Amino acid sequence: MRRFEVIAFSFILISIISYGLYNSIFSKKSSLVSVKEETPTKRAKKIYKNIEKDVVAYIEDVINYGSNRFNFKGGEMEGGYIPKDKAKDVACFVYELSGKKCSKPYAKDASLYFSSSCAGCHGSNGKGLNGLYPDLTKQKLLGVN
Ligand code: HEC
Repeated sequence: MRRFEVIAFSFILISIISYGLYNSIFSKKSSLVSVKEETPTKRAKKIYKNIEKDVVAYIEDVINYGSNRFNFKGGEMEGGYIPKDKAKDVACFVYELSGKKCSKPYAKDASLYFSSSCAGCHGSNGKGLNGLYPDLTKQKLLGVN
């Protein structure tokens, strides 16, 4: 009887350890994925001294690589709706939606890219859609609301 208990106990112990081991390997995998997704978040943390260049860089980052961290009903935003070489211009356009001014001039077709590729979700005026998609016109946009 004693021996049976020892065997049963060891069996349970081994099961728990293997489960933990399996889980730690598994969660390592998923944390690698989320680190990748968190790139814009890391940038956002750095920016909020409201340095224009960094805010524009953050918007550009979202345009190119997407964003998935605010829990909007609209879900996540994928990157790559517009060509990479246009991302900076459109980032400047978005930056100016909140009433700020981009110091560098940018191509005026940025507004066309915005209306064709972004306005479907963020609205033609950038004001979003009632909690479905974020408002891009707020002074304090960009993940740090
Ligand atoms: C399919 C709908 C959709 C399209 C198209 C889309 N977005 Fe988004 N966008 C979203 C959603 C949803 C979020 C919030 C994602 C999240 O939870 O992180 C978002 C987030 C953002 C943010 C971050 C807002 C913040 O407060 O930090 C910016 C900037 C942005 N989008 C700009 C753009 C631009 C510029 C385009 C066009 C190139 C565009 N989006 C196209 C749905 C969209």
